[in-house]
Amino acid sequence: MKRIIFATGNAGKVREIKAILGDLGMEILSMKEAGIKVEPEENGATYEENALIKARAVAALCDDIVMADDSGLEIDYLNKEPGVYSARYMGEDTPYSIKNANLIERLNGVPDEQRTARFVCAIAAVLPDGRELTTRATIEGRIDYEEKGEGGFGYDPIFYVPEFGKTTAELTAEEKNQVSHRGKALQLMKEELKNV
Ligand code: IMP
Repeated sequence: MKRIIFATGNAGKVREIKAILGDLGMEILSMKEAGIKVEPEENGATYEENALIKARAVAALCDDIVMADDSGLEIDYLNKEPGVYSARYMGEDTPYSIKNANLIERLNGVPDEQRTARFVCAIAAVLPDGRELTTRATIEGRIDYEEKGEGGFGYDPIFYVPEFGKTTAELTAEEKNQVSHRGKALQLMKEELKNV
């Protein structure tokens, strides 16, 4: 059976990825499950570059298909901050309750129509023969006025999706996978992988 190794240490992402790619007929492993440890510097200027940096670093250590993602939150009012720096915003180890409170504070007094934001996700795949593929998808929403919901991770409690009338932290995992940036980018990559 072909194997896909997903280059992330984030358990939340691994869960989402296994749920979405589960029916591809390939074995899906996290880096940890594959016994691979590598932490390349994510110094790319775009989501695609960062995803490729991670996938190439793992691909150099195995003969499997390697996939990686890079994602972030773009807030229009803040000139698309935190963007590719989303994980590092206010420091990598700063709790998201503090990061989320800070973003809400920076939008203090800003009305609904100017609170628009999106999650962006790029997925990269490096194949054993060296071929490289990338896909990208987004989910549009706006920054809420307070944290809501217990699900998801990161900025989910402040990312309000008008179609649902809820934040992405209030969606079930299944609902989020169907509409999220990562879910949609993974679906696109799944289609690409069927043709390789
Ligand atoms: P990455 O792990 O380098 O891709 O960093 C992406 C960062 O963007 C995460 O650490 C979160 O801060 C944020 N992010 C990306 N996707 C999501 C999501 O689905 N929900 C909440 N935050 C997210």
